[in-house]
Formats: sequence, structure tokens, C-alpha cells
Amino acid sequence: MTLGQALEKAFLELKDISNGSQKINYLAQEIFSLSYTDLILNKSEILDTDLIKIFEKAIIAVKSKKPEAYILGYQYFCNLKFKVNNSVLIPRPETEQLVEMAVMLSEKYFKNKINFIDLGCGSGCVGVSVLSRLNNAKAILLDISPDAIAVSKENAKILLKDQPLFINSSAELYSPQDKLHLVLGNPPYIKAEDSGVSESTHVFEPHLALYAKEDGLALTRLWMSHYVKFMASEKSFMIFEIGHEQGAAILKHARSLNIFKKVTIVKDLYNKDRFFLGEI
Ligand SMILES: C[S@@+](CC[C@H](N)C(=O)[O-])C[C@H]1O[C@@H](n2cnc3c(N)ncnc32)[C@H](O)[C@@H]1O
Repeated sequence: MTLGQALEKAFLELKDISNGSQKINYLAQEIFSLSYTDLILNKSEILDTDLIKIFEKAIIAVKSKKPEAYILGYQYFCNLKFKVNNSVLIPRPETEQLVEMAVMLSEKYFKNKINFIDLGCGSGCVGVSVLSRLNNAKAILLDISPDAIAVSKENAKILLKDQPLFINSSAELYSPQDKLHLVLGNPPYIKAEDSGVSESTHVFEPHLALYAKEDGLALTRLWMSHYVKFMASEKSFMIFEIGHEQGAAILKHARSLNIFKKVTIVKDLYNKDRFFLGEI
């Protein structure tokens, strides 16, 4: 079968799926190891029969709304390839900004010599990406899910030279020994009845990674209250990803703790409130 024939068959199969052609092109590039130019110009290329079987299976999975990252078993994040499975959230592009802020603050204020914690590490995408960019950092990656910790460990083994410390615990129950310069986290922050969650996310991604009580704010509040006690008093920062409608409530909670010197809500690239940044 040629590339052109395989694509034609896939387009027909997914004609009723939204963004079907985008998904087909991405999966074809990944499974057949082709560039986007190859995809357009090399339609008469004869494909490997084993790869065709994998591609056809992938197309059927897309039809059942399974996310491409779970079909392939990986997702790119901060230019790194993270293994994922259905026990971890699929790393999102907006979370890359959290990594950029952490690296920027670390360079600017600590010459990269930092202790940091990644709360709710999931695939490890935040903690591992930060560590891959800093030479002198010590990190703790923590998650309540043992399966997520296993995925994080695997990614750290593949992508890092030195292993961080992994903790399998509720974030709100853990007490780090050393003071922290950065507290990073992407807590579950969606409220249970949120109608904006896509069917594919709701059905396939772990609910432990998505939903939280108190309109989605329960864990963000708990983690914030708990971890301010472990932040370095000379200077330190807390950065949490938040829901785009949660900025005011989070600022109110942060101010009520009477400990932050400065609190800000940072917007994402779509101009939506997306991160809490607190400075001590
Ligand atoms: C939104 S996901 C973030 C995953 C990853 N950091 C990312 O950005 O893609 C939230 C993570 O928090 C974990 N989690 C949920 N409740 C927790 C708790 N009480 N303590 C620690 N981790 C928790 C979930 O298992 C999930 O991996």
C-alpha cells in the first residue's frame, strides 16, 4: 500500500471526526517517521506492512475518541518526548509556560541552585523538564497515584542524568525536609460539573488528575496553605497552574495567608488567566 492510499482510507474512516485530517497527518508522521513535507510530496511511497497495521489500528482508536498521545504512548512537551499512559494526564502546551517561568526565576534569582518540588507530577513533564534545563537543581516529584509515579520515574530515567526524589503521597500530607525555592504544581482544578471538558478528556484521562471539589479549587487551596510553610524565607516562589476563571478566588486565598510579599495572576498565550505566582 502507498502512503497516498493509506491516507485516503484513513480520511474516509474519519470523515465525521472533528479535526480528523489533523489527527491523521500527525499519526502518519509519527508512525511512518515522515516529515510534513514527506506527507505532502511522497504519496507514492510504499509503506511497511507492519506499520500500516499499526496505523490502521490507530485510526480505529481515534474513531473511538481515544487521544493520540495514549494511542502512540507518548507526548512531546518542552521539546522532550514523555511516555504517557491512561494513568497520567496528557501534558498540555499551556503547562510549558509554567516550566519557562520556573527556569527564568531560577536563573534570575538563584543562579540555578535551587530546591524545588513538583506537586502532582503525573508524567513528570514539569519537574523533569525543569531539571533537564538546570544543572544545580534538587527536585522532589510527588503524586498520590503510584501508577503516575511509575510513569514519572520512567521518564526521568530516559530524559535525565541524575534522578530526582520521587514521593508517592497526598501532597497536602507531605513535609519536605529542606526549604524550597520553588513550589510548582498543576493540581486537578476542574469543577465536577464543568461542561467545557471534552468527551475524549472526560472518558480517557484520569479523573484524579482533572477534577477537584470546591468548584475545582480544593487542592489548589490546600497545597498553597500547606507549602507556604516550607518555602525559603529569604526568597522563594510558588507557581500553580489554575483554571481561567479561578484567578480572583485564588488571589483571595493567597492574601488570606498573610505570607506572600507579592501575588500575581499570569495569563497564558491565549490571554486567559492561567497561573498563580506568589513571591515570598
Ligand atoms: C492536572 S494533573 C498534572 C500532571 C502533570 N504535572 C502535568 O502538568 O501534566 C494533576 C496530578 O495530581 C495528582 N493528584 C491528585 N490529587 C493529589 C493529591 N491529593 N496529592 C498529590 N497528587 C495528587 C494526580 O494524580 C495528577 O497526576
